[in-house]
Amino acid sequence: MGAEDYLRDYLKQDSFFQNKVALQPNYHPEDINHRENEITKITKILAPILKGHKPSNVFMYGKTGTGKTLCAKHVIQQINTVANENNKKIITLYVNCKLKRVADTEYRLVAELARMLGTELPITGLPTDEVYNVFFKIVNIQECPILLILDEIDQLVKKAGDDLIYNLTRINGELEKSHITLVGISNDLSFADNLDPRVKSSLSEEELIFPPYNAPQIQDILRQRSEKAFKKNTVEQGVVEKCAAYAARDHGDARRALELLRVAGEIAEREGKNSIALEQIDEAEDKIERDRVVELVKNQPKQFQACLYSIIQIVSNSKDEVYTGDVYEFYKQLCDKTDLRPLTQRRISDIIGEFDMFGVVNAKIVSKGRYGRTREIKIGLPQEVKKKVLNILNVELGL
Ligand SMILES: Nc1ncnc2c1ncn2[C@@H]1O[C@H](COP(=O)(O)OP(=O)(O)OP(=O)(O)O)[C@@H](O)[C@H]1O
Ligand SMILES: [Mg+2]
Repeated sequence: MGAEDYLRDYLKQDSFFQNKVALQPNYHPEDINHRENEITKITKILAPILKGHKPSNVFMYGKTGTGKTLCAKHVIQQINTVANENNKKIITLYVNCKLKRVADTEYRLVAELARMLGTELPITGLPTDEVYNVFFKIVNIQECPILLILDEIDQLVKKAGDDLIYNLTRINGELEKSHITLVGISNDLSFADNLDPRVKSSLSEEELIFPPYNAPQIQDILRQRSEKAFKKNTVEQGVVEKCAAYAARDHGDARRALELLRVAGEIAEREGKNSIALEQIDEAEDKIERDRVVELVKNQPKQFQACLYSIIQIVSNSKDEVYTGDVYEFYKQLCDKTDLRPLTQRRISDIIGEFDMFGVVNAKIVSKGRYGRTREIKIGLPQEVKKKVLNILNVELGL
C-alpha cells in the first residue's frame, strides 16, 4: 500500500483513544485504588500542619510504580484544599530530584527552593554557609508552615550528598514563625541504610512502605484508566488481565502496566485493527524491551560500546564458543581503528559482566583448566534487536 493510501485509510479509521492522556504516567486519576491505608497514614501524620504545628518528617519508600508519587501529590492537594477553605497559609513545595539541573548540587537545590519561594539567588558564587543564611531568611519571612516533598531523594543524595537533608532538618531549631517538614520519597530500598545515622533518624521520624501491587490490584487500576482512555468496545476480553499479569511478573508495577496498555493501543491502531487483542500485548512488550535496549546502548560510554560491538561481531561470526580472550583480541584491533585507548582484559571482563546484568549478553563464568576462569559469551538479544543495536554502534563508534 502506498503512503497516500495508508494515510487516507488511517484518517477514515476511528481512533481507539478518546482520552489518551489518561494513560500517561503523570495523569492524576480521580480515584486511587488500593492505597487507602497509605493515604490515611500520610494524611494523619501531616494533618498537624493545618493547626500550625510541625508534623514529623516522613520517609516513604517502595519499588517503582507502587503509587508513591501519586499518593504524596494527592495528600498535598487535599491539605491545600482544606487550608484554603480555612484561610490557613501553608506552603507546599514539590521537587523531583531526578530532574537534571534542579538537584545536581546542594547549591542548585537550595537556589531552586528559594526561587519557588519567590527569591532568585545568583546562579553561583555564594559560599555554602551564605546560601543557607539567605535561604533561612527567605523561609523565616514566610511566617507559615512549609511542606517540602523531595521525590526521588536518593538521586539528590547520590549527586549532592546528604548534608543538605541534615541542614534542612536542622533549620527548624532557629526558625521562629515558620517551620519546614520534609517528606522524602525513594524507590531505592537500601537508600536509608546508607545514610549518615543522624540524617536517617531525622528524615525518617515516620516511615511508610509502599508494597508492590498484586495482579488483581493492577487489573483494577488498569480498568479504571482504560475506561477513560479508550472508546467503548475497543479493548478485547483478557487484555487487561494479561497486561496486569505481565506487569506483576517481576513486582507489581502500575506504571509498567499502563505503558504496556498504551503501547498495545498504539500498535493496534497503527496496524489498522478494530480492537486491541491479546497479541498486541506481546508486541508491546517486545517494543518496550527493544526501546529499553536501544536507549541503554546509546547511553553507554564509548569503551562499553566498543566492547559490545566486539562481542556482537565475534559471536555472530564464530562457529565455536566465544570466550573473554576472543572478545579482547577483537576489541584491541577495534581500539586501533577508532583511536580508543585499550582497557585491560580484566576491565573488559568486568564490562562484559555488566552487560550480562543488563540482559544484553549472557556471560557464564567457566573454568578452562590451567588457564583459569573465563566467561563463555552469548548474545542475549533477539536477531532483530541485535541488528538495530549494531546499527547504533556503527554510528556511535564512527565505523
Ligand atoms: N493506586 C493507583 N490507582 C491509580 N493509578 C495508580 C495507582 N498507583 C499507581 N498508579 C499510576 O501508576 C503510575 C505510577 O505511579 P507513581 O508514579 O505514583 O509510582 P511511584 O511509586 O512514584 O514510582 P517511582 O518510584 O518509579 O517514581 C502513575 O501513572 C500512577 O497514576
Ligand atoms: Mg515516583
